Amino acid sequence: MKCTRCKETAIVSLPSHNAGFCSPCFLLFFQRQVQKAIKDKRLFTFADRIIIALSGGKDSLALAWQLQKLGYDIAGLHIDLAIPQSSPIARDHAERFCTFNNIKLFILELDKLGLPIPEINKKIKRPVCSICGKIKRYYFNKFALDNNFTVLATGHNLDDEVARLFSNVFRWDEAYLGDQGPLLPDENGFVRKVKPLYRLSEFETANLCFIAGIDYGFSPCPYSKGASFTFYKTLFDELEHKQPGSKLSFYKGFLNRGQKAFSGLNMNRGVKPSPCVKCGYPTSKETCGVCRIRQMMENG
Ligand code: AMP
Ligand code: FES
Ligand code: ZN
Repeated sequence: MKCTRCKETAIVSLPSHNAGFCSPCFLLFFQRQVQKAIKDKRLFTFADRIIIALSGGKDSLALAWQLQKLGYDIAGLHIDLAIPQSSPIARDHAERFCTFNNIKLFILELDKLGLPIPEINKKIKRPVCSICGKIKRYYFNKFALDNNFTVLATGHNLDDEVARLFSNVFRWDEAYLGDQGPLLPDENGFVRKVKPLYRLSEFETANLCFIAGIDYGFSPCPYSKGASFTFYKTLFDELEHKQPGSKLSFYKGFLNRGQKAFSGLNMNRGVKPSPCVKCGYPTSKETCGVCRIRQMMENG
């Protein structure tokens, strides 16, 4: 197969774009997809201070690599979850990547913050993945605001977004459907959140890492087995295989035509949250979710 752009030998075939690319042209393709996402959805500008949530996995490292290449003002934030089977590997990759690329990396350790995930899993009888997600979002937001970052970027890719969209549609969750998308504006004590990789698939970010020589961590979380998102991803992979391009067209169709039907349906949106009485974080209750988790931990 020949490269669609320069006619050299292609090394990556992308049926969803009806194209194939050699290494340099793939890097250009990837960059253009990120630039298009930033421009179309007005995610941020060169004046923004961007903190990238760096898990140490391929997506967030590819995102940091690309935004640095484009000249944006970036730093990384890694949250060490204190899971012995996966956290040291993830942290090590985030640290080595940032040292090599000269990117400032901040690390928050849940162990030191009194919220190690394995302890939470032992003590609280609720799905630990959703608690973990809540804690991560809390610290992403708090860290960004406390340190004057104007934007928080995550490495969510097209596969993540499609699986989430499908799960929201499957449950007809109007509130979540109204809020889903690559941009959540800053309001009411929450920093602006963006997903600049929403046009790129997991396969494409893995290729970027391979071609750019980014050594990413693959250390699956021991608690995520059987998660419904993983199952939806395999369903969509099968669909994509039969009908290339269907993931991107499903998601773009939602952003361009579907989303407006649901906007404004999140009852919590527009309702001004008040500061948590314990930590000051914006919440619709008296104490925020993370302070309540902390309380449950303390009460055993
Ligand atoms: P996941 O939910 O694991 O697919 O992660 C989605 C995105 O959240 C990643 O691309 C990262 O940007 C961010 N993220 C997940 N886990 C961490 C972590 N431990 N530290 C920093 N960022 C994270
Ligand atoms: Fe948080 Fe698995 S429980 S990553
Ligand atoms: Zn609180």
